[in-house]
Formats: sequence, C-alpha cells, structure tokens
Amino acid sequence: MQADLAKMDEILIDRLNSDVALINQMSHYIISSGGKRLRPLLLLLCARATDYQGEYHHPMAVVIELIHTATLLHDDVVDESTSRRGQKTANELWGNAPSVLVGDFLYSRAFEIMVEPDSMTIMRLLSKATNNIAQGEVLQLLNIKNADVTQEQYFAIIERKTACLFEAACKIGGMLSNATDETIYALGKFGLHLGSGFQIIDDVLDYESDPETMGKEVGDDLAEGKITLPMIYALKQTSGVEHALLKGSIENADTSHIDDIIAILIRVKALDYTRKIAEDESQKAMMALNILPESNYRSALSLLCELSLKRTA
Ligand code: IPE
Ligand code: IPE
Ligand code: MG
Ligand code: MG
Repeated sequence: MQADLAKMDEILIDRLNSDVALINQMSHYIISSGGKRLRPLLLLLCARATDYQGEYHHPMAVVIELIHTATLLHDDVVDESTSRRGQKTANELWGNAPSVLVGDFLYSRAFEIMVEPDSMTIMRLLSKATNNIAQGEVLQLLNIKNADVTQEQYFAIIERKTACLFEAACKIGGMLSNATDETIYALGKFGLHLGSGFQIIDDVLDYESDPETMGKEVGDDLAEGKITLPMIYALKQTSGVEHALLKGSIENADTSHIDDIIAILIRVKALDYTRKIAEDESQKAMMALNILPESNYRSALSLLCELSLKRTA
C-alpha cells in the first residue's frame, strides 16, 4: 500500500495550504509529526479489496485523516495533554485558542474535499460520523469523575468517539467501488469492531505503557477522572478498602496512589480482562471480512486486526 499511502500524504500536505501563516505552521506541525495513518489506510484497503478502479480513494482517505487530526487537536485541548506523536501538543506550543481554531480549519477543509466525488451517500455518512465523534467526546466529558459508568456506557462512548470514524472509512472504501449493500454493511461492522478494539487497547496502554513508546503521556485517563474499561471491571471485582481507593481516585481525579491502583488492576486481572474484550472485538471484525473475496488486501485488513491488539503505540 506504500504507493497509495504516499499519494494520500502528498494530497494531505498539499491541501493544508492557506495564506494565513499560523494555519500553515500549525497544521503542517501536527500532520508532519507522524501518526500511524491507520484510518486512511483502512479506506484505501477497503477500496482496493472491493476492486475500486477510480481515483477518489486518495482524496477520501485525506478527508478521513483530516477529520481525525482535527479531533486530536480538540481532544488535546479538552484533555489538557502536553505531548502527542512524540512531540509537544499544539495547545502546549501555541495555546488553546489557536488549537481549537486550526482544528476547525481542518474539519472544514475536510468538508471542502468531501464534496468532490459528488456523492450524497458519502457526504451523509461522513457528516454523521463527524457529528457522532463530537457527541462521544461530550458524553465522555459528562462522565468525568463518575465512578458508576457501566461497560455498556463505556462502549456507547468509544463507539462514537473512535469507532465510528473507522466504520466510515471502511464503508467509504466499499461505496466508492459501488459494492453491494451487504458488503458495505459488513465493511462498516469490520470498522466498528476494529475501532472499538483499538480504543480499548489504547485504554489498556494508558495504564501499562510509557510515554517514550506511546509518544503521548500515559496515566492521563485517571488524571482526568476518566473511567475506562480496566477500572470499570476492577470496581466490580473489589470491595472494602480497595474498592474505595479506586472509586475515590476516579471521583477526585487523584493519581497519588497510582502504584497501588495498578497493583489492584493486575491482581484482579482487569488488564487481562480488558485485552480479552478487545480480542473479542478484533475477532468480530475479522469475521466481517469473510464477505470479501480472497486477496492480499483482505489479508492486510485481517492482519490489522491482529496488529491492533499487539500494538505498543
Ligand atoms: C489516537 O489515535 C486517538 C485514539 C482514538 C486512541 P491514533 O493512535 O490512531 O493516533 P495517530 O494518528 O497514530 O497519532
Ligand atoms: C481520542 O481520545 C480522541 C478521539 C477519539 C476524538 P482519547 O483522549 O481517549 O485518546 P488520546 O489518548 O488522547 O490519544
Ligand atoms: Mg486525549
Ligand atoms: Mg479524550
């Protein structure tokens, strides 16, 4: 996929241009800082796997990466994060106001490109997905410092904030190829489950990994009072002093007992449980791929399901 990704990146960089100097500076800073380009890769692979012969897959992959990058700019403001992709966040360097506004620039540039294939179906899907991300982030915000969030509520949040952009990327690949409704539906399920698994692993890594490997801070979730699956499970498995420690730490966004908390997460196997749930999602994603004819592209999509579980960054 190297050639497709290179073409996508070329258009991505080209479309950042603006005669407002700060926009150029900030958008190139975040886009050139790396990033796995996973979502555009999914779109390109799904288009290839359904035998797309046209040329809109590159600009549509750009749209997906622009939307993703806009959410990161806004997310880092909301989460008060100081590092991303191994360097300082835009909000850390330029402040919150420019980050929010350049995020808006990236969203709206994505919309400008999105209309180019003149497909109402694609526009409907992408506008819905973008709206869902905003709802997911707000829903999560409403549950900050809430230790009573259930696994179902957690899924409702991650499906909106993360998985629905994966879903849209995969469906667009099929839509461009005029694949059957059944195939597009299956690609959507593939993306949704892969995206959920991806976020679940992200939430494990926030407790398990380190900043050098991740390129962003770890331990942030608790510091924000954000409850994720490891903690939801551990709260159910504990009682007495341990339960009170976990609950109090979420309710006060208190990281001062982080070593004890991690020891509890390990003892009650909360990280193992969470990884198992991510594996289930990955399995469901792989099952959905059965609708595609065998090809190197389908194998690559399947490989991404495995890699998303093993990833360290
Ligand atoms: C980060 O996504 C946000 C989450 C949904 C966890 P990625 O891990 O795909 O970020 P980049 O684009 O590779 O930096
Ligand atoms: C990622 O959310 C941003 C979106 C999905 C919009 P998180 O806040 O959980 O991810 P990181 O850890 O900052 O990448
Ligand atoms: Mg964040
Ligand atoms: Mg966040």
